[in-house]
Amino acid sequence: MASEERKSLDPDADEMRRLGYALIDRVVEHLSSLPDQRVARRGDRVEFSALVDEPLPQASSSLDSCLDFFFERVLPGMTRVSHPRFHAYIPCPSSFAGALGEMLAAGTNPFVGSWLGGGTVSALELTVLRWIAELLGYDPDAGGILTSGGSMANLVGLAAARAKFGGEVLENGVLYLSREGHASVNKAASILGFRREAIRTIAVDDRCRMNVDQLARAVEQDRSEGRIPFFVCANAGTTNTGAIDPLPEISDLCERLNLWLHVDAAYGGFAAIAPEGQELLRGMERADSLTLDPHKWLYCPMGVGCALVRDPLILEQAFSAEGEYLKDLPDDEVNFLNRGPELSRPGRVLSVWMLLRSAGREELAVQIQADLRLARLAASLLRDDNRLEVDQPTLSVVTFRHRGRDGESEADRSARDTALMEATLADGQLMLSTTFLGGRNTLRLVVMNHRTTERDIRISVSRIRELV
Ligand SMILES: Cc1ncc(COP(=O)(O)O)c(C=O)c1O
Repeated sequence: MASEERKSLDPDADEMRRLGYALIDRVVEHLSSLPDQRVARRGDRVEFSALVDEPLPQASSSLDSCLDFFFERVLPGMTRVSHPRFHAYIPCPSSFAGALGEMLAAGTNPFVGSWLGGGTVSALELTVLRWIAELLGYDPDAGGILTSGGSMANLVGLAAARAKFGGEVLENGVLYLSREGHASVNKAASILGFRREAIRTIAVDDRCRMNVDQLARAVEQDRSEGRIPFFVCANAGTTNTGAIDPLPEISDLCERLNLWLHVDAAYGGFAAIAPEGQELLRGMERADSLTLDPHKWLYCPMGVGCALVRDPLILEQAFSAEGEYLKDLPDDEVNFLNRGPELSRPGRVLSVWMLLRSAGREELAVQIQADLRLARLAASLLRDDNRLEVDQPTLSVVTFRHRGRDGESEADRSARDTALMEATLADGQLMLSTTFLGGRNTLRLVVMNHRTTERDIRISVSRIRELV
């Protein structure tokens, strides 16, 4: 039987170039027309699946047809979280520099689980971790790992603390976070084997900051009852309101009582790059571990978080893996598989590196300062409407709600907030989200996007006021 020449899945070089240029043209078209596009639209599973579902392909089809399919059928229904008027949740605006970094990673495909698999890219990750520590005024000898996001970074922080305090905390340890703490911390605790009863939820003050006296009392009581308090998660920018817990006081308490201080700075941490944010976040640099999210306020594409730990060797205690198949790895170098839960790891560092290297600290400070300023502008423009009650933002989350009318029940008032959120979604020019604050329904408008201009804020606010 004549042997057949094997054909790779890759097209020839000219065809790869043609397709790559076609893709980049369409991405650039998408990015440059973002302000004129709808931000989002609701669709149910029946509608969206009807657009995108197909039987398992048996035969080949052209890559052009795959691109057409995405741009014609998937993209139109996609929520544009990069849109300058996407103000919902915590935006992940990304940037062209970050996207180029992702393309580099996808195109060159480094393996960043081990030094042998991806030495220079691992070295670059070490550099980027050092840059991030320096940007935040964190310990220059700290180390860490880039993760898939903030949830995974919170898990890494908690696993590091568990490794430091030893196995007995699984039986008898206690963790503390505020009522405004992120759900991913509870999730991490559950994944790591802590029982629900091991978590203490500490009350917050009228600005949603952890009540440090109550924290101290809870720790004292747990100790006196024979439990082992070991981990405090403080917030440097809560998801709901951007509140920053009293970090210096909490650091003092943790030092005095020998507790691991983890600061969840997934949303707010990079605000420290701007002078105003640096002042607000004072004390964050005293954490034993920190969660950051480059895919939020460092304008990188979705899929990159960061855990920094003052003593990176603890990460190796928490995550070291052994296997005969790993015996060729140099054990005097950083093998990232020993610092986090993943073995095969992508070159997620490339988007962060590309962004940091191309923008530089000064430009980032300007961008972040602009987000802080525009959030205040949004608050003041909303306040001009006396039908609304608007809170002063700490960072860039503006919370507001309808004022109650005489005799109106809270349920009816709250329904008007939800209806306003739905109306903005249906309108398509901006997107808000809602939450509960102290039991009250509240609207949230977040400004965190280098594409957002004063004009966008004016468009968003005037549309909100028309729809109130
Ligand atoms: C304060 C805080 N912590 C953790 C997370 C989880 O981060 P990720 O969505 O990147 O997993 C978020 C997400 O918004 C957050 O705001």
